[in-house]
Amino acid sequence: MEEQQICTIGEIRRMSKDEKFKVLGVVVKSSTRKDKNGKNYWDLGIMDCEGTIEGKVWSNAQWWDRRNAPLLVAEPADSELLRDLIGKTVGLVGQVTEFKGQQQFNFNAVSLVNQEKYPPHQYVQRSPVPEETLEGAFLELLGACEGPVGDFLHFVFFKKNLWERFKTCPAAVSHHHAYVGGLLEHTVAVARTAKNIVEAGISGGYEADVAVALAGALLHDLGKMEAYRLVPAPVMTVAGTFHDHIVIGYSMFESLARDFGLDERLFLAIGHIIVSHHGCREYGSPVLPATPEAMAVSAADEMDFRLFCWKHSVDQMEDGREISDFNPSAQRRFWKWEASNGV
Ligand SMILES: [Fe+2]
Ligand SMILES: [Fe+2]
Repeated sequence: MEEQQICTIGEIRRMSKDEKFKVLGVVVKSSTRKDKNGKNYWDLGIMDCEGTIEGKVWSNAQWWDRRNAPLLVAEPADSELLRDLIGKTVGLVGQVTEFKGQQQFNFNAVSLVNQEKYPPHQYVQRSPVPEETLEGAFLELLGACEGPVGDFLHFVFFKKNLWERFKTCPAAVSHHHAYVGGLLEHTVAVARTAKNIVEAGISGGYEADVAVALAGALLHDLGKMEAYRLVPAPVMTVAGTFHDHIVIGYSMFESLARDFGLDERLFLAIGHIIVSHHGCREYGSPVLPATPEAMAVSAADEMDFRLFCWKHSVDQMEDGREISDFNPSAQRRFWKWEASNGV
């Protein structure tokens, strides 16, 4: 990896077809598949502090063990190199390819590097918003909840000591806010938007409870604390995969609410926000949002997800380009709209 300059994930995303690169990062995904000739190939995801890319390691790729003297691994399928690769720092030599107009990547050489010299945590992406800023915003939103709802939120995050884990948790392993601090960044955005929606509704003559909406927003993805793990990159747990964060979150909320002695009406109202926040059954909510507070949190959750996808897409576009690549998470292309473009 020495001679050629190491690129960042951000630089690689801005490369064109056929360009070659070298990158150092932590493995976030590694799965073996069979090609049409029955040979093994791998889907590999790699993260550095600018983001994540996924690519293919075809059967003719080289696998190196460079922890000490460089050693070419002839039989990758039998190698220790491939076992437990997730969470380890690797060096990749790759090339940009294209499929149906979408940028893709082939990784032609994979090197397991010395983990002490290249510690994995150094390559893990973090929220672009400083932790103190997010923490201050979270506490301000929590402080806007008075009475038993505020007491309950203090109990959950601080008496039950969830805060330290909550603030580093990712919000996903891909799709959105899939980095350290992502859950806090997303939660603050959802709570702010939900509060604004509810307050606008109240100004328009609707009856709604700001504290209940805020509590629901601050707790809506609580289950992600058990659904994801940092190794040090985000990975999904067995419970996250087979129970899902909504079920886990509701179960955590129920136990915390019983422990605290939360009033039954508040328990029902906040619990409803947690279980309905994905907005429809196809997206994993067993019931649809049925209160102004739940509708506000669900809309805010979707808004933050879409805004994240929009920013992620347009940030990768070269100057002068207006239409983004197709974003599979948001199921659309985004428009980098600028007033100077013909207005
Ligand atoms: Fe969610
Ligand atoms: Fe969410």
